[in-house]
Amino acid sequence: MKTVDVCLSPDLIHLYDVSDKVVVVVDILRATSCMTAGLAYGVKSITPFENLEQCQKMKGNGYLIAGERNGQKVEGFDLGNSPFDYMDEKVKGKKVAVTTTNGTVAIEKSRRAIEVIIGSFLNISAVAAHVKKQQQNVLILCAGWKGKVNLEDSLFAGALVDKIIDKFEFECDAPLLAHSTYLHMKDDMLSRVQNSSHAKRLNKLNVTKDIEYCLTEDEFDIVPRLVNGELVIS
Ligand code: MLT
Repeated sequence: MKTVDVCLSPDLIHLYDVSDKVVVVVDILRATSCMTAGLAYGVKSITPFENLEQCQKMKGNGYLIAGERNGQKVEGFDLGNSPFDYMDEKVKGKKVAVTTTNGTVAIEKSRRAIEVIIGSFLNISAVAAHVKKQQQNVLILCAGWKGKVNLEDSLFAGALVDKIIDKFEFECDAPLLAHSTYLHMKDDMLSRVQNSSHAKRLNKLNVTKDIEYCLTEDEFDIVPRLVNGELVIS
């Protein structure tokens, strides 16, 4: 039987062999939610960068540049890191280069995987169907916060495990932990996540509606994949 595992923080990735796995990268608040919404709203491709200066340079190559640090839009960038920024007409058909505090770090640490896909609540059923169809073992990589475990990504991991549990067995206890946490909190996830450290951080920055939107399930039937360094729908 295929196995599923969960890496609760990118700082633990050295404990996992990604080379023979499909990695689902998740950063609910807000990077992977933005990437999913952006591609669904017609962005041509999204190129993730860990390094801010390298991302900024892409402006010169005709890219829109997007990003945040500590939840705040990077000064001079075209877009911040709100899913609503990606719903603007100006992004349709465009190539976007993005850098975020945690989400793009997690993607960078997954590059040696057989396949890297983007997970969010916005496309969770599409991701579940995709990983069920393919033959490899799966690792769900939570972006967390600066190396620390966070609630919202762990809840997503538990929710995804819940959708694929009939076809996968647990590689170790992290999927069991994430799944149990999800089963315990699934009936009032919004209020639970509102109480999370990053939701509080965003609220202090007057970012509120993003949180509820990023917890919306199955807005889009798409699975963004990393192809030659770019996230696309294929
Ligand atoms: C991140 O990558 O840390 C997040 O996406 C941050 C945010 O958008 O608030």
